[in-house]
Amino acid sequence: MNVLKLFFKTGFTNSSACKPHFRRQLIRKISSTSFDKYASFNPSPLSLRQLLEFGTKGSKNGCQEASFHFLRKELPVRLANIMKEISLLPDNLLTMPSVRLVMSWYEQSFQELLQFESGDEMSHLPKFTDKLINIRNRHTNVVETMAQGILELKETHGIDVNTENRIQYFLDRFYMSRISIRMLINQHTLLFGSDSELGNHPRHIGSIDPGCNVLHVVQDAFENARFLCEQYYLMCPEIEIICKSPGNKLKNIEIVYVPSHLYHMLFELFKNAMRAVVEHHSEETEVPKLKVMICKGVEDLTIKLSDEGGGVPRSKTDLLFQYMYSTAPQPCRSNSGSAPLAGYGYGLPLSRLYARYFHGDIILNSLEGFGTDALIYLKVLSNEANELLPVYNTTTSKFYASDIPVSDWSSSPSNGPSSTSTRTYFTSATACRS
Ligand SMILES: Nc1ncnc2c1ncn2[C@@H]1O[C@H](COP(=O)(O)OP(=O)(O)OP(=O)(O)O)[C@@H](O)[C@H]1O
Ligand SMILES: [Mg+2]
Repeated sequence: MNVLKLFFKTGFTNSSACKPHFRRQLIRKISSTSFDKYASFNPSPLSLRQLLEFGTKGSKNGCQEASFHFLRKELPVRLANIMKEISLLPDNLLTMPSVRLVMSWYEQSFQELLQFESGDEMSHLPKFTDKLINIRNRHTNVVETMAQGILELKETHGIDVNTENRIQYFLDRFYMSRISIRMLINQHTLLFGSDSELGNHPRHIGSIDPGCNVLHVVQDAFENARFLCEQYYLMCPEIEIICKSPGNKLKNIEIVYVPSHLYHMLFELFKNAMRAVVEHHSEETEVPKLKVMICKGVEDLTIKLSDEGGGVPRSKTDLLFQYMYSTAPQPCRSNSGSAPLAGYGYGLPLSRLYARYFHGDIILNSLEGFGTDALIYLKVLSNEANELLPVYNTTTSKFYASDIPVSDWSSSPSNGPSSTSTRTYFTSATACRS
């Protein structure tokens, strides 16, 4: 089936701005046969254990060849799956310059990977690694550029509830796909490319640390968040850390994990907690400590970060994981040189994706008037830590085409914007199916 037929089958029908020829233009450089072929495959999720084994077994060359064989199919599959979803975005969004730019990066990368579909493998290996580095560099600013595209839509056309719902659903899947593609590329380039000579930690297998010391990552993330917090507020809460690992009291708590992912989650949660605490106690000279509990069970490793930052009312908790929801002022771009402490509204949703990527999660529980507990859950067993990947199929395409069902429960007038709770209930229920 050619690409156009698929678009007609699954795409939007209500627009004049994004005619079929425009959608065709979006993938103009890609042979529709290849595109359809790769989009018709489901991505193959790997577990942390498989990723580790890949990097440790056998000779370097044997591994590199196996990795090459896997990636030359898997990367185009992951790219084609998510490109299908981009093409189903609301018409107005597809015409935004930043979205078109992102789409052109995906097109180009997909096209470049097709060069490795067949041919002499041994001579391909170094070129393939260089190509992956190029692709990774090209996609560095995807998150910001896509976010910019949404702002462009907001400014030019406004965003209604249905569109917002679809964008939220899409961004979760799009950014998750990106995390997974970067993970695969990083593994290959760190293990087999010139990146491997860049002083990667001797214990690490690519970006994975088989003995990731959770306490060290917590302390590292805290110190860096503290640095930012002190820059903004000239003060920062202290920290108290408790580690619990039943039956294993003296040992450090370790886990097979990607330290940079864990760091990202903790850094974002610390920044949020610090801001809440300092602002909630702005009249006081001393602020209450942040409390961290690290607990390793049989299945789950849990990190609980408790703050006394005043919490969030229940009517707002559904909004916390929405992209662009922030109660901080929009950071000023001209203030470059120092990173903002808050303001983009991407901290929580992206951190939750990192946690969910290996079947963990992030949950926020608030006691309004007192504080918030943020919980990070990670899988203890590396064979259970499988990648969670978006799969493009008919359910996906139906989601982009259907409106939010009308609620069949009465709404509470005191609950802020009337549609919010219902809308988010449906959004998260559907998003979890990814
Ligand atoms: N621990 C917390 N206590 C109180 N409110 C919180 C807490 N964590 C998050 N929030 C609320 O959730 C909002 C969204 O958080 P999120 O981290 O996604 O974005 P942000 O911090 O505003 O901006 P950034 O993208 O820079 O992180 C915050 O603006 C804040 O209002
Ligand atoms: Mg934040």
